Amino acid sequence: MRLTTLVHCVLFSLVSSLHIAAQRPAIPRDEQVERQVEQTLARLSTDEKIGQMCELTIDVITDGQSGDFRLNEEALQKVFAKYHVGSLLNVPKGLAQRPEVWSTLIRRLNQLSAETCSGVPQIYGVDQIHGASYTWGATLFPQEIGQAASFNRRIPRRVSEIGAYESRVCLIPWVYSPVMDLGRQPLWSRQWESYGEDVYLSCEMARQAVLGYQGNDPNHIPPHGVAACIKHYMAYGVPVSGKDRTPSSVTDREMREKFFQPFRSAIMAGALSLMVNSSVNNGVPFHANYKYLTTWLKDELQWDGMVVTDWADINNLCTRDHVAATKKEAIAMAINAGIDMSMVPYEVEFCDLLRELVNEGWVSMARIDDAVRRILRLKVRLGLLDRKTWDKEPKKLAKEFPLFASDAYAAEALQMTEECMVLLKNEKVKGKNEELNVLPLKEGAKILVCGPNADNLRAMNGGWTYTWQGERTNEVAPQMGHYPTFQQGLKERFGAANVRFVEGVRWDARNFNLDHRTDDWTQLTKAAQGADVVIACVGENSYCETPGNINDLNLSDNQKEMVRTLTATGKPVVLVLAEGRPRIIRDIEPLCQAVVHTFLCGNYGGKALARLLAGDVDFTGRMPYTYPKHTAALITYDYKPCESVGQMSGNYNYDAVMDVQWPFGFGLHYTSVQYSNMRVDKSTFTKDDVLTVTIDVKNTGDRVTKESVLLYSSDLVASLTPDIRRLRAFEKVELQPGETKAVSLKLRAVDLAFVDLNDQWVLEPGDFRLSVGDQHTVVTAHLPPGGGS
Ligand code: BGC
Repeated sequence: MRLTTLVHCVLFSLVSSLHIAAQRPAIPRDEQVERQVEQTLARLSTDEKIGQMCELTIDVITDGQSGDFRLNEEALQKVFAKYHVGSLLNVPKGLAQRPEVWSTLIRRLNQLSAETCSGVPQIYGVDQIHGASYTWGATLFPQEIGQAASFNRRIPRRVSEIGAYESRVCLIPWVYSPVMDLGRQPLWSRQWESYGEDVYLSCEMARQAVLGYQGNDPNHIPPHGVAACIKHYMAYGVPVSGKDRTPSSVTDREMREKFFQPFRSAIMAGALSLMVNSSVNNGVPFHANYKYLTTWLKDELQWDGMVVTDWADINNLCTRDHVAATKKEAIAMAINAGIDMSMVPYEVEFCDLLRELVNEGWVSMARIDDAVRRILRLKVRLGLLDRKTWDKEPKKLAKEFPLFASDAYAAEALQMTEECMVLLKNEKVKGKNEELNVLPLKEGAKILVCGPNADNLRAMNGGWTYTWQGERTNEVAPQMGHYPTFQQGLKERFGAANVRFVEGVRWDARNFNLDHRTDDWTQLTKAAQGADVVIACVGENSYCETPGNINDLNLSDNQKEMVRTLTATGKPVVLVLAEGRPRIIRDIEPLCQAVVHTFLCGNYGGKALARLLAGDVDFTGRMPYTYPKHTAALITYDYKPCESVGQMSGNYNYDAVMDVQWPFGFGLHYTSVQYSNMRVDKSTFTKDDVLTVTIDVKNTGDRVTKESVLLYSSDLVASLTPDIRRLRAFEKVELQPGETKAVSLKLRAVDLAFVDLNDQWVLEPGDFRLSVGDQHTVVTAHLPPGGGS
């Protein structure tokens, strides 16, 4: 800790600067893979190489109506025989397809492309993002934001393993997942696609997702695995305006310290491909940023994976961002910055223009060869050059993948969904003889369920569910399986005679952000008066990307008015939130006796919620982002000291400049958990040390639970104003009633470093406060003169 400016200067030289470049290639080199890549590359003509770099949407080669499609033979010839296109994407006609339809389609495309491109088949990519969400009948899970709330690494791992399995039965080898943009701007319409606002949580979850998709050996993706495409590189989640695909304003320093980290973590776990952020940072479109695409990603990390654009983003350099005068100039700019494959996605003209650029010397053959090597490496690692991996009849595939849409997967999905919901409030209410918490609901209680999300699988699942915007889920999901909505789940659990459903407010059929009253509140009031407890299911309807932009973060007036009407009856009201981003509820929250956040919970949410509300299982989730209270107080938990007044302690709204509804990491149980006896194995440390922090965690209640134990650090004084606190480690442990477990968390000294103004990771000497629950202690970094690296 520095006391004076003089001391400050002296100690500055003691700072330990840490090398940022990777010490080893992110993915170990495999000689056999490299040999096959080189042999294949040598066979390809320049046109074939350029074709490999082109990705088109399936719409270019299909005809037909929604859901029902056929291949257009003329277009197929053009795309493969003439242009040797290396990749296709998207679901035909915008609606989930059955495994046999997918596999028949992809097999045919592979055959044709391999025949017309020296034996190299195209690679098909699909947005299967919470399970195989474009596959009819697949097992769906909570969206990433819900998975993050579980603070359980096993959940993204299993979601991805099962998602990969249920993709590969379709012969889909490549998924555009996981999203690892930090969701630090609550207005952003894709916050729910992220693992929330925290760097460490996102790093950990993203790593698990990659391992789940790909397995442990990125050079040999197993037959049940797929290649991950981590996205969207990077800082996509912090548009200044809050609108999708609008500029961010992040310095290189903060980029490296925060936004780069989840990508680094996923790449070190073996991620084979990466998709680029559509937008612009400090004036530079990411698709034209050599430093980020080539220096940071490919050179520093020694990563030999493949970089694909997002939708039409090379054209956007010209048509939208005005940094290139022509589409041709835009192509040169992007390819030279480090793009390997262009998701064009409609025009084969990309190939003609790139050929001209090569002929004219604007793009070197060396850059083309590098890009194509990366594409071929991806295909080789997936085994696609070996026909046996994909030349299979649907029947054979069905035999090889017997667990597709199985009861075993459904059971896992239900259990996981239960861990992805958070209990935010649970007050005592007067019972007949005593005061009891409103939750768990009592057996035999008369329950009124209402609100636009009470009977709405669409709102529970969100976007990227069977369609891009998720707008057909209510119609198609019930054709695939028994997926109870919230109100149906409650009826099944508590008995239909005890549960009444009155909608109250309904979503507009066309505008996802508009709702209408279905009642002048007479029916609703009467129904509430006849009930013991009311469950009000509010939030958002499904949406995705730019169509999901909003101008106001408040929950809609109709929904708020519905809640006020219900609470005016004097009956206890449980507010159930189902929403992709936090909608402000400051004025209605105090009126409700309990609040549960379900995020976007997926098809098993109805059953999971009923079991949680009944107390069949305990709530074990925690907030993966800060829930705002005011539209003009949007903040993340790792804010700067000047953003608050008063003491730094557990919650952060004392004397608040920034006042929040619920902080990051917040979540209640039915049982109670106590922390004690925090100890650290070292009170002083140097940069190579690993600290072990141990804490006794006791379940003091009468139910089994799981507790996520979160370790935070605070750098008490630093040369750049530090974040007030940062999550550094977590572990989720199961606790029987009365059980105490000593939980140990590892903290590497280097994890306490930050990025300085010279873009270097530095660990400065001085004091760090470590805290777990209500326990804390201070440890001190002693660094030798000169620091070292
Ligand atoms: C989205 C990506 C998605 C891609 C392909 C884009 O509009 O931003 O997340 O992977 O489309 O569907």
